[in-house]
Amino acid sequence: MKIGFFDSGIGGLSVLHHAMKILPQEEFIFFADEDNVPYGTKSPEEVLRFVDEAFKFLIAQEVSAIVVACNTATSVAVRKMREKYSLPIIGMEPALKVALDLFPNRKVLVTATAITITGEKIRRLIKKLHAENLAELKALSQLVEFAERQEFNSAAVEEYLRGELENYDLEKFSSLVLGCTHFNYFKDTLRKILPPHVKILDGNAGTVNELIRRTNLQSARAENLPSIKFFYSGRLVTDSAELARLEKFLRRLDEMEAIF
Ligand code: DGL
Repeated sequence: MKIGFFDSGIGGLSVLHHAMKILPQEEFIFFADEDNVPYGTKSPEEVLRFVDEAFKFLIAQEVSAIVVACNTATSVAVRKMREKYSLPIIGMEPALKVALDLFPNRKVLVTATAITITGEKIRRLIKKLHAENLAELKALSQLVEFAERQEFNSAAVEEYLRGELENYDLEKFSSLVLGCTHFNYFKDTLRKILPPHVKILDGNAGTVNELIRRTNLQSARAENLPSIKFFYSGRLVTDSAELARLEKFLRRLDEMEAIF
C-alpha cells in the first residue's frame, strides 16, 4: 500500500522510522514542507494553508492513507482534512494517555510547539483524560530549528533545555511527553537533564498502530527496507547531499530509539 507521511520538516521521520521497521513491505512517500518549516510559531491560518497544499500533493500521488506525522498540523488541520477527504487520515496525539496509564495520578510534563500548546485540541485531550491537575504544558519551539540544522546535542541545545526546564520541580513528574515529532532527536540531552525516574514518552508507536488498525495492514519483520520517496514541499529529493542529510536523521533516530 502506498502511504503518505507528512510533516512540516524532518520531525515526522521519527514516525516513518518506526513504520519502516514494522511495515517493511509497504511503499512510503515522505513529504517534508521544508519551504515552510517551522509551523509551530506561525498562525493556525497559515499552517492550515500549508497542510492543504501538502494534502493536494499527496492525494495526487494516489496514496491510500495519510499519516500527519506532525502534532502541530494535526492540532490545526486534521479535522478539516477529514471533512474534505475520505481516505484514512491518521494524526498525532501527545502520549498523555500512555503516561497516565503507566503512572496513574502522577504529574506529566507535555512538551510541544507553541501552536499545539495553545490549541483547543490539547485542551480537549486533557479534559477527556481528566488530567487538568496532572498535565503541565510547555512549549519548546526552538528545538524544531535545532533539529532542522542537525544540531542535536550541542552545548547550545543543552543550555536551551536547561533554561526552559529550570522552573519546574522535575522530581514531581512521572514523565515528559514529546508532543512534537521534532523533539525525538533530543532524547539523549533530555535524559542528561531529567531525573532518572522521569520517563520520556512519544506518540510514534500509537500513531503507527492506528495506521495499521485503520488500513488493515499486516505488520511484519523483514530483511528488506521498504521503498521510500522523499519530497521537500513537493520536489522529489534526488540530490545525494540531501539524501545523505535525511540518512543522517534516520541514523540519529536509530540511536535515540533505546532512550526512554
Ligand atoms: N514536527 C511538528 C510537530 O510535531 C512541528 C514542528 C514545527 O514545524 O514547528 O509539532
